[in-house]
Amino acid sequence: MSLSRILDGKVCIVVGASSPKGIGDATVRMLLDHGAKVVAAGIVMNDDIIARLLSGCTDSEIPRSNIDGQICDITDFGQCQALMEAVVDKFGKVDCLVNCAGIVEGCAFSEISSDKFDRMTNVNLKGTFNLCKAALQVFERQGHGNIVNLSSLAAQRGGGLAGGAHYAASKGGVISLTRSIAREYGPMNIRANIICPAMIDTEMLDGFSAKRQNEIVESIPLRRVGLPSEVAGTCLFLASDLSGFITGATIDVNGGAHIH
Ligand SMILES: NC(=O)c1ccc[n+]([C@@H]2O[C@H](COP(=O)([O-])OP(=O)(O)OC[C@H]3O[C@@H](n4cnc5c(N)ncnc54)[C@H](O)[C@@H]3O)[C@@H](O)[C@H]2O)c1
Repeated sequence: MSLSRILDGKVCIVVGASSPKGIGDATVRMLLDHGAKVVAAGIVMNDDIIARLLSGCTDSEIPRSNIDGQICDITDFGQCQALMEAVVDKFGKVDCLVNCAGIVEGCAFSEISSDKFDRMTNVNLKGTFNLCKAALQVFERQGHGNIVNLSSLAAQRGGGLAGGAHYAASKGGVISLTRSIAREYGPMNIRANIICPAMIDTEMLDGFSAKRQNEIVESIPLRRVGLPSEVAGTCLFLASDLSGFITGATIDVNGGAHIH
């Protein structure tokens, strides 16, 4: 198998794939380019988004039948279950779930109202729980599976960049949840890993002034922001059998911003 076809035969779901500049968008294209069949899911999903994803692939000959789209609001467990079942109906199995869905909000601790906290944890943590639970039902049945969850540097260093304490806490929960899944489901041939990105050039960075971005970049050893494709490359590695003995791991994609 050539490296470029490393995901031949695999069926992957990427959730949070609606934003044109997002990590989910780049991940869908990366997985398609490496041979996977991909279901792109998000709170918004339509034929225009699918056409955009396909036209952004490096390989211009990927058949339309290799990609499907599904609407899924991860705060609704029923929609997460419906997503999994739709993928099994269409492609016969699910090999890997990549969860890129998330929200961020920057604010001081004293300004985090109960409603703000609930909204944040409902999407980032409960939503991840909903998706993983729905996927694990399929994974157990089929005897294998693989989860990649997106957390954040904020969870590791106590917030301080884009998100407030509620964002950091929700992403810390994603790490603990994913590690627990890795431990409990490893004996069932199911892997689960975490990616902690930081300062990736997506809409999440649009809230920073140019001055603030420059200040942050000065503190990053690689002296630049990251590209969505660089997180997508890590998703590719974790989705593939190259990472077959890796589970419960937290992989930093942060240009050295947090060396620990
Ligand atoms: N960009 C960064 O620097 C950075 C840093 C650390 C962590 N992350 C994490 O990476 C992931 C992707 O971030 P991004 O920068 O591509 O952001 P983004 O805003 O471009 O993408 C987030 C996606 O999540 C979707 N989403 C939000 N709520 C949803 C819901 N209830 N159900 C389904 N989908 C929902 C949005 O529609 C969007 O497509 C997020 O989990 C984010 O927290 C990003």
